[in-house]
Amino acid sequence: MSKTVLVSGGAGFIGSHVTVELIQAGYEVVVADNFSNCDTTCFEGVKKITGREDIPLVRMDFCDEAAVRKLFADYAIDAVIHFAAYKAVGESVAEPVKYYKNNLQSFLNVLDVAQEKGCNVLFSSSATVYGEPDTVPVTEQSPRKPATSPYGNTKQMCEDFLRDTVLATKGLVKGIALRYFNPIGAHPSALIGELPRGVPNNLVPFITQTAIGKRECLSIFGNDYPTPDGTCQRDYIDIVDLARAHVFAVRRMLDGKMEQDYEIFNVGTGRPVSVLELVNAFEKVNGLKLNYKFAPRRAGDVSAIWADPTLANEKLGWRAERSVEETLKSAWDWEKHLAGK
Ligand code: UD1
Repeated sequence: MSKTVLVSGGAGFIGSHVTVELIQAGYEVVVADNFSNCDTTCFEGVKKITGREDIPLVRMDFCDEAAVRKLFADYAIDAVIHFAAYKAVGESVAEPVKYYKNNLQSFLNVLDVAQEKGCNVLFSSSATVYGEPDTVPVTEQSPRKPATSPYGNTKQMCEDFLRDTVLATKGLVKGIALRYFNPIGAHPSALIGELPRGVPNNLVPFITQTAIGKRECLSIFGNDYPTPDGTCQRDYIDIVDLARAHVFAVRRMLDGKMEQDYEIFNVGTGRPVSVLELVNAFEKVNGLKLNYKFAPRRAGDVSAIWADPTLANEKLGWRAERSVEETLKSAWDWEKHLAGK
């Protein structure tokens, strides 16, 4: 019988792509979301891509403990992937209490029930836990630096919550934290993708919105960094590649293949790409010119960070496959789809 995975925040950007990959790999998925940062566009897209009209969707807030308990009572959950969280770095600096309340309480509720049920937990973490690294690429052994934002702090704290729960339950709860680098792009069907509200904070949505004419000009934040072309370097990973990593991690958990009860994996490509290189690649692959200018550095940005993905490659048997060009094409196709073009 196929196993059931609960995807909290499953109607959002990453959650919807993960839901598709899980279903296509033969898992049953329960999607739960409070729709605080998305509408049903991606959930509808997931149903179209998978041809599954019957995917359970539960509208609920993971900060509501009773609702979380009811969810686990209503469905036999073998593993939970926890995405439900706020994710805007700048907003977290302005409204730390909102971030701490939401991101920590929701995960504590999940862990509380998971330890009662002996349910496996996959936590959606971030490369932000490495802060400004001393050396690149970063491995999972690289030190976690003090968080540069309340958002980053919640990622570090939730990793610790999971580690401690696994330890206390002596492995009854098994845990995996996946540290994402920079997820970009959209599903090749252009039926699901990122839906930023208001002015995008992240680079690729800003690029596609500029290209479509929603924004006048992209500001490249800083061209005096100690990098080959002076702009920041990141590890941009295709959203479908990133989603596939979750399938490999869930399989490892549910098939009893974990070597430790709590494991951490970097989910990146191992390939540094600068902001300028990304902009140039976007222009080339989509055959257009982007209006951009250089602007001062953005506070809190690290100059360069990319992953050493060896552990995930070897232990999960997963690796990122899509080129930056393919991914930037998918991002542009999604923007055009949104614009009805
Ligand atoms: C941020 C978060 C990361 C999170 C990721 C995806 C931190 C420090 N970073 O990563 O945790 O997982 O978002 O949500 O917590 N840029 C421009 N112009 C723009 C926008 C961005 O030049 O209009 C540049 C930035 O300076 C940076 C690069 O593009 O060098 C990537 O920025 P962004 O997409 O915001 O991601 P990160 O800051 O790397």
